[in-house]
Amino acid sequence: MGTGALGGLTSPPGSDLDLWSREVLLDPWEEFRTIRDTAPVVYLERYDVHAVGRYRDVRGVLRDWQTFTSADGVAFNDLMNEAEMGTAPGSDPPEHDAVRSAMLERLRLTEVRGLVDLVQQRADEMVAELVERGSFDLVTDLAQRFVTQVVGELIGLSGDRLARFGPAGPTFFDSTGPEGDITYDAVPVALELLQDIGRITKDDMTPGSMGWSLFEAEERGEIPPDSTTMLIWNYIGPAFDTTINGIGSTVWALARDPGQWKILKGEPELIPSAFNEGLRMETPISIWARGCRNGADIDGVTIPPGSRLLSCCSRWAWKSRFASSHRCAPSHSRGRRSRSCSRSPSVMASTPASVRVWPAPRPTPSWPPWSTG
Ligand code: HEM
Repeated sequence: MGTGALGGLTSPPGSDLDLWSREVLLDPWEEFRTIRDTAPVVYLERYDVHAVGRYRDVRGVLRDWQTFTSADGVAFNDLMNEAEMGTAPGSDPPEHDAVRSAMLERLRLTEVRGLVDLVQQRADEMVAELVERGSFDLVTDLAQRFVTQVVGELIGLSGDRLARFGPAGPTFFDSTGPEGDITYDAVPVALELLQDIGRITKDDMTPGSMGWSLFEAEERGEIPPDSTTMLIWNYIGPAFDTTINGIGSTVWALARDPGQWKILKGEPELIPSAFNEGLRMETPISIWARGCRNGADIDGVTIPPGSRLLSCCSRWAWKSRFASSHRCAPSHSRGRRSRSCSRSPSVMASTPASVRVWPAPRPTPSWPPWSTG
């Protein structure tokens, strides 16, 4: 991929693909394949967006923030782009560096390691209770409940405020789309939740939690005044639906692959890489937006100045290999380089002991899991 030179290049082919129809949102892989088979860049006419779908090009876009900015927002509508300005996902260096390092300070591996036992304990309790029940809804009874409880506990949210976040997870993804029914329904709810986070004070946080320690850092003058709730938002906004989707999809995929489940039960140390494989196969964030203020070229195709860009996180290798290796096939499911996902590795530590007690999951007629949510 080259960027910057605008002469002697071809224009992207136009397409009327609708990536935001309900059917495609549930199962986008064929459309992503069409995009990458057609050209390095395809112009999606109905949304005025340039879509990039080939692995190398997507990687190039995600790494090159100077040409493909996040500071204009990573959503496909103005309201959400404005609302998320200055957050980690919605900023570029140097502003991005400051926000990211304040966040990562609380996610240092040494500190996070101390949380693994807590996460493990919560997982064991929940799984034991669900296994006892015999049958349960993977998304609402396990993934949503687990993530809400654990992320809430780590960040320091509790009570009614926390109860609103788990079920509201999809709202944040839905609110990032272009104008349309799904976005119209989601944006007001997302904005209300954002405003609610803006009203959080230190007294609302559990002492010792990540959120509480951010308020303490503000008191010590380490964080600019009034930026604490925005930093708390960085832990909350990108955390819920991604992780709920990741857990739900990984177990769903394993339910269709009983041989791999059996291997994992015998070798629970493979679980973190199996979770990565789940993220690759059913990646929770499958498209990102970027702005291209000055224009660029991608593999000989011109992107005009002022364009919005969409990069698709396709499944470049189709066959799953959950338990066959400690390394999974390359994917962009966690982002790239300086702005790759800053989530707590404690979430990735997963639930080895829980898997040992859990009999093989069996799909019921209400699957796939997201149809129940
Ligand atoms: C399995 C679950 C998760 C997945 C698949 C995931 C995926 C991603 C991806 C793809 C990005 C890059 C977005 C971009 O380039 O525009 C990202 C960024 C980010 N994620 Fe996650 N995420 C997950 C969980 C979490 C959690 C639990 C947290 C909270 C601690 C979190 C916090 C963030 C933040 C703050 C960013 C922005 C990082 C930056 O711009 O420097 N994520 N995530």
